[in-house]
Amino acid sequence: MAPETTKPLLLTPPQQRQRRTGCRAWALAVVVAAAVLVLMLPSAGPLRRRMFCLGAPPEPVELTLLAGATDKGAVCLDGTPPGYHLQRGSGDGSNSWIIHLQGGGWCSTLKDCSNRRMSMYGSSNFMKPMWFAGAGILDSDQLKNPDFYNWNKVFVRYCDGASFSGDAEGRAQDGSTLYFRGLRIYEAVIHELMEKGLANATQALLTGCSAGGLATLLHCDDFSARFPQEVSVKCLADAGFFLNVKDISGERSFWSVYDGVVHLQNVREVLPKDCLANKEPTECFFPAELIKSIRTPTFILNSGYDSWQIRYVLVPGSSAPNKAWLSCKENIQNCSSTQIEVLNGFRNAMVNDLKVVEDKEDWGMFIDSCFTHCQTIYGISWNSPISPRLGNKTIAEVVGAWHYRRSQGVKEIDCEYPCNPTCSSRLPT
Ligand SMILES: *[C@@H]1O[C@H](CO)[C@@H](O)[C@H](O)[C@H]1NC(C)=O
Ligand SMILES: *[C@@H]1O[C@H](CO)[C@@H](O)[C@H](O)[C@H]1NC(C)=O
Ligand SMILES: *[C@@H]1O[C@H](CO)[C@@H](O)[C@H](O)[C@H]1NC(C)=O
Repeated sequence: MAPETTKPLLLTPPQQRQRRTGCRAWALAVVVAAAVLVLMLPSAGPLRRRMFCLGAPPEPVELTLLAGATDKGAVCLDGTPPGYHLQRGSGDGSNSWIIHLQGGGWCSTLKDCSNRRMSMYGSSNFMKPMWFAGAGILDSDQLKNPDFYNWNKVFVRYCDGASFSGDAEGRAQDGSTLYFRGLRIYEAVIHELMEKGLANATQALLTGCSAGGLATLLHCDDFSARFPQEVSVKCLADAGFFLNVKDISGERSFWSVYDGVVHLQNVREVLPKDCLANKEPTECFFPAELIKSIRTPTFILNSGYDSWQIRYVLVPGSSAPNKAWLSCKENIQNCSSTQIEVLNGFRNAMVNDLKVVEDKEDWGMFIDSCFTHCQTIYGISWNSPISPRLGNKTIAEVVGAWHYRRSQGVKEIDCEYPCNPTCSSRLPT
């Protein structure tokens, strides 16, 4: 898909900026004289922060490039090594691992994939360190992320354009090779993490959002099979429940995108055999089919009014939406009642596809009706005073209850928009 449709899901350091500002105010209020002294010292930055902040400011988590990537052919679209960010766990989280697969759309044509090489979604040359603070399920603050704060956390960078699932090569117009190696990247990264301690995990959670949420569903059973039976392995797919529906002009435009990805990048190995036995590979790439085969306990988190899907699946540019649709896509509060009816149809299709989850023991879901996309990796959505709530519980509370089997009622489906008063217009869209 075009770059503008591959919404960046990179975690940036706004929290760090906020904290620094807070620290500065505190310092000014308390000990101006000492501050002057410290400021005069060379390389006073770290010392200044240590003196005036109670906790150390969150540090960026470095990018680790995969070792031996070229030999394994496990490379990004442009042939550079893929990477991940690993933050070690502590205390009783030392042997617990959360693996997050990054999202960021797909590329379904040689041209799109070729263009992607000039971005962090196609080349590690463009990847930078990342901040986990404020990033929901990846946050190390116990108050904001009570169930996973001290786990080992891995953020795997997405640079293949096919949800970590293709295995092929292509040729760009300029004659250079395009590497479609998502499956090899997934396998090589998991293998390297195993050597770094994942092999000793007592519990592991595979997750990801958007294209990474789809990747989570595609790899869930394979991931689980890599551990001994006694290890608790689960999957959490965030905003990865992409629907196989017609757009508003009646075309299966999103099906065409997936068809392009599946064939260009040779996505086959990861698709469920029972689905391939009687359906086209492209259909088996859709979550509605994938979840029928998954045997590992899985949690589906998605908005029934997923802002990305409304923009690019239900009302894509190719469906030639009029001005009224453009403002509705921009902000759900601007949708007319007729448009809301169309959106309700989309949401009902999702709820219908998810009926099979009702019968699956050990599964969970949280299908809210808030206009947003990706809800695990932003603190504001995951667990904050303005988080979407269902049954008066935040996403963090329901996911925690599901993971630790703390309560029944971990399959929550919201009523139709705009019934949920907890849906804030400040959520990321
Ligand atoms: C797993 O634990 C064993 C025993 O504590 C240790 O010897 C080994 O190095 C660990 N393996 C990894 C990959 O950390
Ligand atoms: C959409 O709604 C917001 C607030 O609800 C308003 O500020 C904005 O102007 C509207 N945009 C359009 C294009 O109607
Ligand atoms: C909802 O939960 C909050 C705490 O998470 C609690 O303070 C509040 O009383 C609850 N409201 C209802 C209606 O149960």
